[in-house]
Amino acid sequence: PRVVKLAVIPGDGIGPEVIAEAEKVLDAATAGLDIRFDKTHFSLGATRFLETGETLTDADLAAIAGHDAILLGAVGGVPGDPRLKDANIERGLLLKLRFELDHYVNLRPSKLYPGVPGPLAEPGDIDFVVVREGTEGPYVGNGGSIRRGTPHEVANETSVNTAYGIERVVRYAFALAEKRRKKLTLVHKTNVLVHAGGMWKRIVDAAASEYPDVAVDYLHVDAATIFLVTNPGRFDVIVTDNLFGDILTDLAGAVTGGIGLAASGNINPDGTFPSMFEPVHGSAPDIAGQQIADPTAAILSTALLLDHLGLPGEAHRVTTAVEADIAGRDGSARTTAEIGDAIATRLQA
Ligand code: NAD
Ligand code: IPM
Ligand code: MN
Repeated sequence: PRVVKLAVIPGDGIGPEVIAEAEKVLDAATAGLDIRFDKTHFSLGATRFLETGETLTDADLAAIAGHDAILLGAVGGVPGDPRLKDANIERGLLLKLRFELDHYVNLRPSKLYPGVPGPLAEPGDIDFVVVREGTEGPYVGNGGSIRRGTPHEVANETSVNTAYGIERVVRYAFALAEKRRKKLTLVHKTNVLVHAGGMWKRIVDAAASEYPDVAVDYLHVDAATIFLVTNPGRFDVIVTDNLFGDILTDLAGAVTGGIGLAASGNINPDGTFPSMFEPVHGSAPDIAGQQIADPTAAILSTALLLDHLGLPGEAHRVTTAVEADIAGRDGSARTTAEIGDAIATRLQA
């Protein structure tokens, strides 16, 4: 059989709860195929840090990089926990993985599934994908501060933008738009961030001539938040900077029925490194350990994983099972495991 080496990082908070269900569904979706998932579980995150003082060792990183793909729950402790102050799980673990494994496409699809109660009175058809740049922008960590602890403190965070880095993610977004409804929206803030924004705009405009079928438009990020609420149906593919993409995709999750449904893939399209699939949400310390987290986002992330592994049929079966489950939701409470079981059962049928 084909062997797929899968690194699993359940992480913190609700991470292990939702990943248990995602694994259940992945097993059900691939049962009977001539494929074996060879899984390695990595204990990483705030919990591991508090126990051992380690965030992501070189050995961890090398071991993870030796896999074909990664499934991640969520990492991070309670925001503001003083014991984690300098550990920076987000930077030292999650972003380190995205940067070291060159996940330059952070793919975040948003779809309003039939039957989902969303916050919008007249949502219309919502089906778009945010292609968030994943390795540059203000996330690079190029910054510093001086005179800390004095009234004269200075803090800088530099946004790093390269022509190479923008061009590769822009081309990915154009190619994706070509396969979809052929509409690409660049979101930035060119009226203020003239250097980075200007370069994004020029690169998109230059690439546009190579994708004549794709209609291109541009929105400032503040206006984009308006349209995501008032007319989300206008979007097909959005391409944007790392930080804008982070913010827009939590909003996108909220308008499509909640962050518990939003899946993502951190993709290295070149295949040099394993891609990593994870829900958009975090470790949700406020509801952790109660079996009330929605595992759907993690489960839909396995559909993105299957698609990436060249198993679009199995990916489609997962999404169909999720859609059927969602359509049957009547608001009555189910545990995290009950939702996972219900979706896995549909796949066995
Ligand atoms: P969060 O996404 O964890 O939680 C925001 C809100 O959404 C909370 O009220 C939470 O209960 C709710 N929520 C999240 N996932 C849900 C689910 N599956 N079902 C039902 N409700 C859900 O964001 P936060 O509170 O800002 O962050 C908590 C921690 O997670 C922080 O340490 C943060 O840095 C980290 N974080 C990690 C990731 C990641 O690992 N990819 C992503 C975002 C945040
Ligand atoms: C996400 C998260 C991360 C991000 C944090 C935890 C570093 O919010 O995956 O959306 O900002 O990318
Ligand atoms: Mn986020």
